[in-house]
Amino acid sequence: MNIVIIGAQWGDEGKGKIVDFLAGDAEAIVRYAGGANAGHTIVIDRREYALHLIPSGILYPGKQVFLGGGMVIDPQALFEELRLLEERGIDWQGRVFISDRAHLVLPRYRKIDVDRDAVRKKPIGTTGRGIGVAYALKSERVGVRLADLDNGEALGNLETGDTAFLDQYRDRLLAMKTDMAAELYRLRGKNVLFEGAQGSLLDIDSGTYPYVSSGLSSAAGAASGSGVGPRALDKVLGVCKAYTTRVGNGPLPTEFDQKSQSALYQFVRDTGREYGVTTGRARRCGSLDLVALRYACRVNSLDALVLTHLDVYDTLDEVEVCVAYDIAGKRVTDFPGSIADLTAAKPVLRKFPGWKTPVTGTHTFKELPQAAKNYIEFIEEFTETPVDTVSVGYERTQTIVRNQIWS
Ligand code: IMP
Repeated sequence: MNIVIIGAQWGDEGKGKIVDFLAGDAEAIVRYAGGANAGHTIVIDRREYALHLIPSGILYPGKQVFLGGGMVIDPQALFEELRLLEERGIDWQGRVFISDRAHLVLPRYRKIDVDRDAVRKKPIGTTGRGIGVAYALKSERVGVRLADLDNGEALGNLETGDTAFLDQYRDRLLAMKTDMAAELYRLRGKNVLFEGAQGSLLDIDSGTYPYVSSGLSSAAGAASGSGVGPRALDKVLGVCKAYTTRVGNGPLPTEFDQKSQSALYQFVRDTGREYGVTTGRARRCGSLDLVALRYACRVNSLDALVLTHLDVYDTLDEVEVCVAYDIAGKRVTDFPGSIADLTAAKPVLRKFPGWKTPVTGTHTFKELPQAAKNYIEFIEEFTETPVDTVSVGYERTQTIVRNQIWS
């Protein structure tokens, strides 16, 4: 079975934990988009692992992990990440494979990325990892792919300094090179997990353009960014938080008010540890935006949602969700494509009583406080998508599964 896990909001939904949770039963784990702009935190036995490029499945001994052709890979960041994993006792040798179609990020891209954002009229707030530059060069058809590393002719677009940089990594990269179409064909009939990066609302096509990343972080990218067709994908799960966060610039209609809700803002940020794994930036926080989430359910054909960070709301008297936008006096219930409309959107909020009980020790849906169940059931009703899994803490074990995922 092929299962795709995507972020159903603006990234940082807790995909790393869920991928890690499901990876135990997968033969292979494939990452298909983005690069070292992503940051996944996984906690196992109170040890924290931060991953940027390597699929979270690496933490299971013996699992094969693949970096797909839809990714843009910075060799320096990759080998630094592998070094850190090794330092912590993770044996990765012989089980990390990179698509020959994947593009490489060169050091000069990072500077271009930062410099370009600095002169934009409205900066995007990029992570500065050279991701947008690598994807732009890919579209211009002057990028460098792993497949080209041992082919001098295809490397004609390199500039001074690029070759010396690549020379340090060439042999090690080529040793991991693989043909993903062939590999995934070999794995047909086995359990394969496709791990999305960023989130659907940061996808270059379905996201809040231009305030997006440059890859295909939606479910559609799982096919083109790895080496199978869309019909090979059996199930798509969307991970979302019980609230909403966003890092970087761009509209966030349900963002808590910095003045009148400053205590709530800080509480959610601190309790949810809402600080970027890649850049350390504080994330913007707000109520759960169901208009945006329902849009993500639709554009990704989600089979189910995985709700994370429910425990962050444990002590609140009441919780709110956004059920519509007010845009210039008009009530709007579909997620707008116009960035001006989205920027002008005022959330129409619906209040729910808080559950005021810790949910972190809960193992079944039945055990959850009634008010938390009501909150979850409203999400299901509004989005017309079942919430199949609920995460109530950082550890692998703090996960409530309502329907078996690998079946
Ligand atoms: P870039 O991908 O570094 O160009 O960043 C573009 C936008 O996407 C910025 O607002 C980033 O903060 C955001 N972004 C990129 N990667 C992630 C991620 O993994 N999680 C959350 N936001 C991200």
